[in-house]
Amino acid sequence: MLTLGINYSQMHDSSACIVRDGELLFAVAEERLSRLKHDAHFPRLAIQACLDFAKLPVAQIDEVCFGWQPAGPVYRHDLRLYATGRWPVSYLNLLNSSRHFLSMWHQESGAAPFRRIFTGARARFRYVDHHLAHALSAYAYCGFDDAAVVVMDGRGAWEATSIWHGRGGRLEHLLTLNWPDSLGLFYAEFTGFLGFAPNSDEWKVMGLAPYGQAGIDLSPYINPHDAPYRVFSRKLVGDSAGYSHLASHLGTPREAESEISDQHKNIAFAVQDACEMAMMSVVKLALEKTKSRNLCLAGGVALNSKANGKIVASGMVQNVFVQPAASDDGVALGAALAPYLDANGRLPSRPMRHAYWGPSFDDQTVESALRTYKIRHTKLSDPELVAAQLLSAGKILGWFQGRMEFGPRALGSRSILADPRDPEMNVKVNNAVKFREWWRPFAPSFKKEAAPEYLESAYDSPFMILTAQVRPEKRSVIPSVTHVDGSARPQTVEHEINPLYYRLIDEFGKITGVPVIMNTSFNLRGEAIVHTPTDALRTFFSSGMDALIIGSFLVEK
Ligand SMILES: [Fe+2]
Repeated sequence: MLTLGINYSQMHDSSACIVRDGELLFAVAEERLSRLKHDAHFPRLAIQACLDFAKLPVAQIDEVCFGWQPAGPVYRHDLRLYATGRWPVSYLNLLNSSRHFLSMWHQESGAAPFRRIFTGARARFRYVDHHLAHALSAYAYCGFDDAAVVVMDGRGAWEATSIWHGRGGRLEHLLTLNWPDSLGLFYAEFTGFLGFAPNSDEWKVMGLAPYGQAGIDLSPYINPHDAPYRVFSRKLVGDSAGYSHLASHLGTPREAESEISDQHKNIAFAVQDACEMAMMSVVKLALEKTKSRNLCLAGGVALNSKANGKIVASGMVQNVFVQPAASDDGVALGAALAPYLDANGRLPSRPMRHAYWGPSFDDQTVESALRTYKIRHTKLSDPELVAAQLLSAGKILGWFQGRMEFGPRALGSRSILADPRDPEMNVKVNNAVKFREWWRPFAPSFKKEAAPEYLESAYDSPFMILTAQVRPEKRSVIPSVTHVDGSARPQTVEHEINPLYYRLIDEFGKITGVPVIMNTSFNLRGEAIVHTPTDALRTFFSSGMDALIIGSFLVEK
């Protein structure tokens, strides 16, 4: 059976993947191909890339599975909230809900553009409940037979948080908290209040939090202690007349790009703290209900690596799998497997050990791009060794190899690398390349075997999605990847999974005695991670990177 999984909601992160007989072949987010960050358009480029990778005509696809309910249920839930006063009835809110409904209804929630663009399709169309698709994207790829599965995001059609029990290849639904009782909404509202983009810049709040102190009272907006938590959305979002409880309680919202005050840092601290407690309460409830010691997480809130790290460190769970594409791009992965649950069927169990599901480019294609743009380059016989030498000499290096990562993290395929020993390196990379906020930490890639020497709870972390505390005696050894609170967001790299990147780190370790690399995504601020050699070259020459190793070729400035 051949299935296409698709995320298309017109909200954010459109994506597609292709699965053959239960085996994921390829997955990509539309933003990487269209170059529009968080692209919410119909993912025509991503679907075409899936078909191209599998070398298949669309006629051979059996099922096209969307990771959302059709338009009707989403709109009905919105109308119910307006009618019961749980969401402010304003002209703008009603207009947005109705426009979204009419647009999705007109498009048959994606089936119409699919048929129009991909002529000759004979597939059946399927609409998978959004949280079920998230839950499948975690459980089916976790490798545990028995697991508590927790989904936390902004919203599905009606869902905001849900708990499932995965057992024997099946998923049993246990509990749903409906939108707007939503942790994603809670975090997004404060992200906006602090002058950042909601549903996009939550990282910035998480990074800012350790600079703040306790003392801000968020009890009007959330009760994180109950099992499960409660979000008081009416106070959080204000009323239809534009009254903002947040502004009257916490002062004027911060203007984007303006100074960060102590009050802003303290708000970030309180928001992150409440979110961690609330996530912990949901996880605890899920473990009690399922009596499992294995945990799967998905949904955008599960990208909160700080909270994930605390869940691991709490000792509540034995094994954790966080879907690396935890946000909505990842629902494509779950939706594509939904047909396997038909007729009381069982899901295929294919543990996901890496995130390299995207397109790749061979040396011939890279060389052709270099020649087209008349860029001086050198062919290398040992790119990993040269990379390690450049890094140990303090160079900031673009590293473009193999299949692109699926999900928000760069994991050694489309990465910018640097020496983590230099305490100034985060400032240098920020000024030269990323141009991002001073407080946002950079992450380290470790040789898997070396991680316990540097980290207090060295849980296997191939996806950079949970934080750990750096051992106090090692904080001065890798200062540029140690956050102000002593934490780091590690990637543990296995030789078997990514031999090229592993060898680079290993060679760097032989030269410096520190088998750790600073790894950040290969993109400029506000742009999607690079996809093609052309994207990489353009980014390289628009930044202060010193060198680029792309396939077997070295480009230097
Ligand atoms: Fe979602």
